[in-house]
Amino acid sequence: MQTRRLIRAIDGETLDPPPVWLMRQAGRYLPEYRQTRAAAGSFLELCYNPDLATEVTLQPIRRFGFDAAILFSDILVIPDALDRNVHFVTGEGPRMDPLTVADIDRLDPTRAETHLAPVIATVARLREALPQETALIGFCGAPFTVATYMIAGRGTPDQAPARLFAYRDPQAMDQLLALLADMSAEYLIRQLRAGADCVQIFDSWAGILDEASFRRFSIGPTRRIVDRVRQAVPDARIIGFAKGAGSMLSAYRAETGVNMIGLDWSVPLTQARMLQKDGAVQGNLDPLRLIAGGAALDEGVDAILSELKAGPLVFNLGHGITPDAPIAHVEALLRRVRGQAS
Ligand code: CP3
Repeated sequence: MQTRRLIRAIDGETLDPPPVWLMRQAGRYLPEYRQTRAAAGSFLELCYNPDLATEVTLQPIRRFGFDAAILFSDILVIPDALDRNVHFVTGEGPRMDPLTVADIDRLDPTRAETHLAPVIATVARLREALPQETALIGFCGAPFTVATYMIAGRGTPDQAPARLFAYRDPQAMDQLLALLADMSAEYLIRQLRAGADCVQIFDSWAGILDEASFRRFSIGPTRRIVDRVRQAVPDARIIGFAKGAGSMLSAYRAETGVNMIGLDWSVPLTQARMLQKDGAVQGNLDPLRLIAGGAALDEGVDAILSELKAGPLVFNLGHGITPDAPIAHVEALLRRVRGQAS
């Protein structure tokens, strides 16, 4: 029998209370994370150090007892494996060499297996170290979201460089996304074989695409990953988080084949309830309600529970937790979701 509550919910079971974890739950809002991060040197060194990456993955589990742990790594280890000179500038975010159309044919995916071996080692250690009832989530970025950073060479407010790249040379974009999809599928298969109970595909920038582009550049490559992963691991559980996909979410689940969909906070709860008819949903508290705390937090949690707890639900934020989230508010959230007096 499946004892991990997250997996039971992904498989369509309605659980009371729902399982809960938070996107980006290992991170700078935790003093113990900041300490380990300082000892590691750079952020990427932390990602590639199985001892330290295991430690930071476990920190939020020890402190809060979430129903799931998420592997500590980053979506940008894929461009790093492609030798794009990835680095993180403190206070500013990721940087890498901006990718041109001419660079695509020179990308060499064969280094990835060796390069990402430490991350796979972390997965194996985590499955050993975690409590039996805690699910382990592996992940990758969706090809489109990873490509937005590769093309711009950094984060931008609207990912205009990637959108222009796709409009000017859609075949080149298809070629890049196919390469990233195949690398990502291989990476997820290795995570699942090393002990991940499920995997999440983060398409954080899907919402800036128009309908035709969303189908071609978000759904298409995500489906390619799902098909390849299921060829190797037929019962693989896959969570798809297409942030901002709104009214396309039903098509996104149906056409990609992901088991569960993550919802950002702009998805109306009435729509979320309709989406639950096709399978489990995950979300969708505004991370800023967690910062505000008090009535804003309580009302946000209660609205999600009252609308969605009659169906398969995984309680989560609608996007990642931010460094300024007070620990006491995370504790309050958990008490409220789990129905404990506050
Ligand atoms: O706890 C977890 O969720 C696991 C680890 C995880 C990180 N990044 C660690 C991280 C996961 C799942 C991610 C995903 C990720 N990374 C996404 C998709 C989800 C989302 O938030 O939209 C994206 C777009 C990235 C790329 C990325 N990594 C950016 C834009 C940044 C800089 C912005 C920031 O928050 O600082 C990162 C850095 C990063 N990834 C940090 C952490 C804990 C902070 C860096 C540090 O500690 O110095």
